[in-house]
Amino acid sequence: MKELINIKNLTKEFKNGHGIYDINLSIREGEVFGYLGPNGAGKSTTIRHILGFMKPQKGQIFVDGIDAWKESSKVNAILGYVPGEIAMPEFMTGFEFIKYIFEIRKLKDWNYVEELIEFWEFDPKVKIKRMSKGMKQKVSLICAFMHKPKVLVLDEPTSGLDPLMQEKFINLIKSVKAEGRTVILSSHIFQEIEKTCDRVAIVKNGRIVSNIDMDEIKYNENKKFEIVFSKQTEMKDFLSVYDNKNTQVIDKTKLFINLKQKDMQDLLKIISKFNTRIFKEIPFTLEEYFMDFYKFKKENEKND
Ligand SMILES: Nc1ncnc2c1ncn2[C@@H]1O[C@H](COP(=O)(O)OP(=O)(O)OP(=O)(O)O)[C@@H](O)[C@H]1O
Ligand SMILES: [Mg+2]
Repeated sequence: MKELINIKNLTKEFKNGHGIYDINLSIREGEVFGYLGPNGAGKSTTIRHILGFMKPQKGQIFVDGIDAWKESSKVNAILGYVPGEIAMPEFMTGFEFIKYIFEIRKLKDWNYVEELIEFWEFDPKVKIKRMSKGMKQKVSLICAFMHKPKVLVLDEPTSGLDPLMQEKFINLIKSVKAEGRTVILSSHIFQEIEKTCDRVAIVKNGRIVSNIDMDEIKYNENKKFEIVFSKQTEMKDFLSVYDNKNTQVIDKTKLFINLKQKDMQDLLKIISKFNTRIFKEIPFTLEEYFMDFYKFKKENEKND
């Protein structure tokens, strides 16, 4: 697949000493790319550089071969953007603002805008001043999608949306992906990332600390099982024959076992001799990966 976005050695330090440092990312055409990290990690700062809103202190960003800073208007023509902090003219109604963006972009297909308004079950007559956070988010989403951009850069696009709307968003991203368009999605919602992204980069204190395929997380060789035995004695007998120090006893009949893929046969052989009420694999999630990673780093940092 062709590389569509290339961020090379991007560095920007603010006067207060915070910023982003030596960010390198390559995003392929058609990919849904997750950008994750705690508050203040540098997600929005990176994203603002992709839009050409900020001049890199060091490094460069290319979107479809175009320099994002030097030719930001060209880049903006092929991008759809949902900002992390939405600022819109308060005196306008949703309809007026959407129409205004439609005209600035010199678009023709108003039917598609109406489709988007309907999709988001949005009432555009309300003044922006009177809108809830979720309603403003919908205006922003409609504006980002209205010109059917080749690339969508979405900075926490579902913040403020209710669970039904979040589900709609996930389906929308899936259809965008099916059309071969490219998405950068910054989010704090692991499920959203898990359900949509092909790859995820994690940023922490302004630096990329991990960049992985979602498949690597989903098909991790570390497995976790939950077992609930039918009786207390069953569990006791099991523990006397099954030797694994990564067994967590939860109560008298329930335990968790962490093991490697290669050790699964052993467990299956032994467990088949016992009466269980529940025997199920707990899938490894992005949340666990993320948290584990952070804990590990923190412990390491203490030893530095
Ligand atoms: N214009 C600015 N001037 C000074 N400092 C800034 C500016 N913009 C961002 N920062 C600082 O840079 C760091 C990264 O901020 P950024 O907004 O990129 O984080 P984020 O990952 O988007 O966080 P969040 O999840 O809270 O949105 C923070 O420490 C922030 O205070
Ligand atoms: Mg942000």
